[in-house]
Amino acid sequence: MGELVVEVESLVVRYGRGRAAVTAVDGLSLTVVRATVTAILGPNGAGKTTTIETCEGYRRPQGGRVRVLGLDPVADRRALLPRLGVMLQEGGAWSGVRATEMLHHVARLHANPLDVDMLVQRLDLGSCGRTPYRRLSGGQKQRLSLAMAIVGRPELAFLDEPTAGLDPLARRATWELIEDLRRDGVSVVLTTHYMEEAERLADQVHVIDGGRVIASGSPAELTSRGAANSLRFRGPAGLDVRSLVAALPEGSRVREPAPGSYLVLGTIDPHLLATVTAWCASNGVLPDDLAVERHNLEDVFLELTGRKLQP
Ligand SMILES: Nc1ncnc2c1ncn2[C@@H]1O[C@H](COP(=O)(O)OP(=O)(O)OP(=O)(O)O)[C@@H](O)[C@H]1O
Ligand SMILES: [Mg+2]
Repeated sequence: MGELVVEVESLVVRYGRGRAAVTAVDGLSLTVVRATVTAILGPNGAGKTTTIETCEGYRRPQGGRVRVLGLDPVADRRALLPRLGVMLQEGGAWSGVRATEMLHHVARLHANPLDVDMLVQRLDLGSCGRTPYRRLSGGQKQRLSLAMAIVGRPELAFLDEPTAGLDPLARRATWELIEDLRRDGVSVVLTTHYMEEAERLADQVHVIDGGRVIASGSPAELTSRGAANSLRFRGPAGLDVRSLVAALPEGSRVREPAPGSYLVLGTIDPHLLATVTAWCASNGVLPDDLAVERHNLEDVFLELTGRKLQP
């Protein structure tokens, strides 16, 4: 395992006091490994923003311990800030500034910035021209905020919902930029509601709900646990499923939930698929609608909480 750039242990953050207090983060623990992409995935109000704002030093926790690049985000804030890239969920406070001017300005403050023209082109910020920040569209603001957070090629970037509200093209451009950052050795922590985003981008996913981590792992680890993946196909009704089971690895199951509709449960890997098709061939069966159904992070969330990730 690599060096840890973020360590959060039993974090508690409350808003307000006394009986009116809201416990936004309630004993949350997670770590982030250097030069990886870590996704914090959870529904509205789960505590994602509160957690990363605490890591950025904007909030003082009521309990637990947070270390970012080995430092205390509140006490060591001045030393830490130049090493971080921060994209807030609510955008920045620079309402009158023009997009590309601001980006050039921020780039000049850093020793080894990304190429501003490349960022402008890849995030399609050229069209923002001389429009002041406050008059940009939602998606333009979002893309500019991302550019500002990463232009300095920070050691560690916190991106709060970097793709919320972006169109599919801009979302893909953002994903590619984040992948390039990882290649450059930047550690990225992002929050998202989109399980396909976490699956595509993240090395490690922390699923959070009610201010706690309810599951952690790589996307593959998370999706391979719990309910098995399945393989479905259609064929003539009443095939001898017992002989198919006998050909498959131990622990596999085969059902015929409706006549002629077959369901294979177990570890669905290329080898198992080959075994099923070989069995079909030797039984003279041409399987119709053969489909591998993979369990995704949305299913994992549903299984863990009984609720859907996105309403
Ligand atoms: N300033 C605040 N005062 C009071 N309660 C707050 C404040 N900020 C957040 N909360 C509450 O804390 C909880 C966690 O909020 P947080 O913004 O961290 O969630 P989130 O996971 O980022 O949600 P979203 O997906 O909507 O961005 C919510 O119940 C929210 O209402
Ligand atoms: Mg949030």
